[in-house]
Amino acid sequence: MTGAATVQQTEVLESTALNAEYHRLRVRAAAPAATARPGQFFQLLCPASPAGTPFLRRPMSVFGADPAAGEVSFLFKVTGLGTRGLAGLRAGETLDLLGPLGNGFTLDPAWRHIVALGRGAGLATLAPLGAAARGAGMGVSAILSARRPTLMVADDAFRAAGAEVTLVTDAEGTSGPAHVERLLRGLIAAGRCDALFTCGSARLLEVVRRLAQGFGIPAQVALEQQMACGLGMCFCCVRAFRVDGQVLHRRVCYDGPVFDAREALE
Ligand SMILES: Cc1cc2nc3c(=O)[nH]c(=O)nc-3n(C[C@H](O)[C@H](O)[C@H](O)COP(=O)(O)OP(=O)(O)OC[C@H]3O[C@@H](n4cnc5c(N)ncnc54)[C@H](O)[C@@H]3O)c2cc1C
Ligand code: FES
Repeated sequence: MTGAATVQQTEVLESTALNAEYHRLRVRAAAPAATARPGQFFQLLCPASPAGTPFLRRPMSVFGADPAAGEVSFLFKVTGLGTRGLAGLRAGETLDLLGPLGNGFTLDPAWRHIVALGRGAGLATLAPLGAAARGAGMGVSAILSARRPTLMVADDAFRAAGAEVTLVTDAEGTSGPAHVERLLRGLIAAGRCDALFTCGSARLLEVVRRLAQGFGIPAQVALEQQMACGLGMCFCCVRAFRVDGQVLHRRVCYDGPVFDAREALE
C-alpha cells in the first residue's frame, strides 16, 4: 500500500552472512515499516561499496516485521553492486528504507491448509506468509527449492512457524518441475492444498499455474521485476497478464508484486 509508505533512517541491529550467497539484515524501524505485511517490499538505499555507489534504490521483500519489537528484517542474495553494499553494513550503521510498498499476499480465513512453493531468494518472500498462515490457524506445507542444500534459506523460519517442510535441490535431482508437480498433486489429492503460493522461479510458476487452473485452486505469485521508482510512476516494471482472454499490462511495484498466479504470463 503505497499510501502508508515513508522514508525512514533505520539502525542496523544485525548483519549476518548465512552462507556463500545469502545475507540477513535486521533493522530497528518504527511504523509503518514495522507493520509491513507478507509479500510487501521496501526500496532500500544501498550504501556505497569500493565497487561504486548504486544509483537507484533496490527492491527487497520483507522477510520479517515485528511492530511490537519495532524491527524489520531482510534476507537477500548478494548479486551485484546494491546487495554487496547492503551485505557490508554493520550493526550500528544506518539503512535508509522506503516502504512498505505494494500489495502483499491475501489469506482467506476459510482456507484450512495452504502450500508455499519457492526457490532461491523467493523463499525470503514466502517465509513471512508461512508464519502468518500458521498464526491464522492454517496448516502450511512448504516445498523449498535451491541449487544445493548449503544454499537453502528460510527453511528454519518455515519450521519455526510449524510448517511441514520438504526440501528439493538440483544437486540431489529433486527440484525438477516433474518431481515438484508430483509432490503438489499428492498434497492436492490429500485435501491439503486450499491455495497455492509461489515466488522465485518461472518454471515453478508454470507448474503452479497449470495445477491451479486444472484443479480450480486459488494461487498467488510474488513477481520479481527490475524496478526504478517502485512507486508506480516510471512504468519500468510492467508485465503482461491474461485476464478473461485479454492481455493486460500491469506495474509489478504498484499493482503487485503479488498477483493471481493463473493470470501471470512470462
Ligand atoms: C518486489 C521485489 C522483492 C524482492 N525481494 C528480494 C528478496 O527478498 N531477496 C533477494 O535476494 N532479492 C529480492 N529481490 C531481487 C533484488 O531486488 C535484486 O537482487 C537486487 O535489486 C539486485 O541488486 P544489485 O545491485 O545487487 O544487483 P545488480 O547489479 O542490479 O544486478 C545483479 C543481477 O541481478 C539482476 N537483477 C537486478 N534487479 C533485479 C530484480 N529486481 N529482480 C530480479 N533480478 C534482478 C540483474 O539483472 C543482474 O543479473 C526482489 C525484487 C523485487 C522486485
Ligand atoms: S518501478 Fe516505477 S512503475 Fe514500477
